[in-house]
Amino acid sequence: MIEVKDIRKSFGDVQALKGIGFTVREGEIYGFLGPNGAGKTTAISIISGLLLPDSGSVTIAGMDIRKEGRKIRNILGVIPQEIALYEELTARENLHFWGGLYGLSGRELHDASTQVLEMVGLSERADDPVSQYSGGMKRRINLCIGLIHRPQIILLDEPTLGIDPQARINILGIIKSEVSQGKTVIYTTHYLEEAENLCERIAIIDDGEIKAEGTLGELTQLVGEKDLVTINGTFTSDQARNFLEGVAVDHLEDNMVRVLVSESSAISRLLERFFTAGVSVGEVSIKEPSLESVFIKLTGRELRD
Ligand SMILES: Nc1ncnc2c1ncn2[C@@H]1O[C@H](COP(=O)(O)OP(=O)(O)O)[C@@H](O)[C@H]1O
Ligand SMILES: [Mg+2]
Repeated sequence: MIEVKDIRKSFGDVQALKGIGFTVREGEIYGFLGPNGAGKTTAISIISGLLLPDSGSVTIAGMDIRKEGRKIRNILGVIPQEIALYEELTARENLHFWGGLYGLSGRELHDASTQVLEMVGLSERADDPVSQYSGGMKRRINLCIGLIHRPQIILLDEPTLGIDPQARINILGIIKSEVSQGKTVIYTTHYLEEAENLCERIAIIDDGEIKAEGTLGELTQLVGEKDLVTINGTFTSDQARNFLEGVAVDHLEDNMVRVLVSESSAISRLLERFFTAGVSVGEVSIKEPSLESVFIKLTGRELRD
């Protein structure tokens, strides 16, 4: 349904996307998981035709975005990360404005607005100006705008950013229901749990590259059945290479080493090495096999809010 091939994009010296490619099947919910600055918004902007890539191609439902952008826009719903609402207008007025841009009018536009407002549970507040809305309510109306023309394909860029749990549950529920109706979805997030709970396949994106892609099961296979142990302390990488000789190290740098271990007794044996070498150990963290440990293994960092 969506085919992205080797897209690259630079902003001046910043290589926001260094050649990413993936395919999203019809009816699938595909996750883009990555930290701030990974390139998620740039990718979504390119796929939705708002931004031209420097190179590479995007095909949606068999149409090339460069050639048939207008047709694609009719079947595409984009929920941008930056909320695009007119504060002084009411929610319904906002929906009428945006729905009009999608070619809806009259009764059809009115009914479509009523329907999406009901979906996000804001019918009763529909005639209040958006400036009186909470952050979570604005996010919900932002979602409505991308869905008002009932698109076949939905691109969501961090739709739950910084909102209250109730609004989050509402938004995630709506997305699930869209998928159950056969819609195709790309969902970007920096929340591990969302990628885990919502997405059929997940691409881990960092620093403009897809580091790995697969189902949750396939991704956790990358760490096997093993725990990921990170040990911080005061040592150089050369020192550590010496006293950890024979240990299968996953990643090593000055003052930090990461190792995958299959049994907990291995952790104490590992720490023994540090003590024997007279090296002081600071923080030790142990992560069971999970999307989180895979993420750390692939990107070298933790995803925090
Ligand atoms: N319009 C722009 N001008 C300059 N740099 C940009 C622009 N948009 C994005 N970038 C840079 O590109 C990189 C990727 O950004 P972005 O796609 O917004 O990441 P994400 O959405 O994953 O947080 C970042 O380094 C960001 O600063
Ligand atoms: Mg972004």
